[in-house]
Amino acid sequence: MTIICPLCHTDLLREKTRWVCSNQHSFDVAKQGYVNLLPVQHKNSKSPGDTAEAVQARRDFLQAGYYQPLKDQLMNWFADLQPHTVVDIGCGEGFYTSGMLAIAEQVIGVDIAKTAVQIAAKRDPQATWFIASAAKLPIASHSIDVVSSFFSPLPREEMARVLKADGYVLVATPASGHLYEMRAALFEQVNPHQPEKFTEALAPEFKLIKQDVLTYPLMLEQAALRHLIAMTPYAWKAKAEKRQQLEQVNALTTHASFQIYLFQKQAKTIEP
Ligand SMILES: C[S@@+](CC[C@H](N)C(=O)[O-])C[C@H]1O[C@@H](n2cnc3c(N)ncnc32)[C@H](O)[C@@H]1O
Ligand SMILES: [Zn+2]
Repeated sequence: MTIICPLCHTDLLREKTRWVCSNQHSFDVAKQGYVNLLPVQHKNSKSPGDTAEAVQARRDFLQAGYYQPLKDQLMNWFADLQPHTVVDIGCGEGFYTSGMLAIAEQVIGVDIAKTAVQIAAKRDPQATWFIASAAKLPIASHSIDVVSSFFSPLPREEMARVLKADGYVLVATPASGHLYEMRAALFEQVNPHQPEKFTEALAPEFKLIKQDVLTYPLMLEQAALRHLIAMTPYAWKAKAEKRQQLEQVNALTTHASFQIYLFQKQAKTIEP
């Protein structure tokens, strides 16, 4: 079994309406089918992670298909790895996670935001959904074939712990010019994204074995533009006045540009 108790780290076993460990710590399955494995002492705020507004905006935006080309490419790379067990860290409302169900036997989605996990679990009861922190995954050591993190945290040590030897990490993150035109409308100065910082941050446990940049135009009508603003950090980083101006625009053409990385876990070298 791959799921462990967040309190005592022994195996958690699934019963009909709860998960329970050998020390009788018990976690109820919510009516939507997810489980809250985030102990209050691991919570840094009352509602950690993305706000309900950002989650709903992301759901509406992704459902409309604007990031489908990215999902298709990620799922192709993912299928090539032929994984049995996967964990999607910061899964949000599960747009990408849901695609993994056709590929892997055990799909686990983890997010710290309750609203996101509620929506995800309602749509895809076949996956296992947890409210949990990326920093303390409720997953047994060396039990996972692939960890994914799309626009989400990349906890290097936790990922190395839960992955089997030679396991993989699949990452999607903004490439330097992602949404350039939209950001130019929101900010005086547009700083390029720096995806390469992740390859540095994940070394030496993880070696980059494959990468690609996927770029394509996005033609956004007002509703989609509003959703996109609301689902990104630009929503609160931009001046309110600039945001309001952009939200009044009837349509905007910008570019999506994604950096995709595949890393492989490296065997630990033992000092002589
Ligand atoms: C930009 S969203 C991406 C969601 C999803 N992967 C997608 O691309 O649609 C980042 C997600 O990471 C979650 N998150 C942030 N910090 C987290 C943490 N420490 N542990 C788990 N999830 C976290 C947020 O709640 C949010 O759902
Ligand atoms: Zn326990």
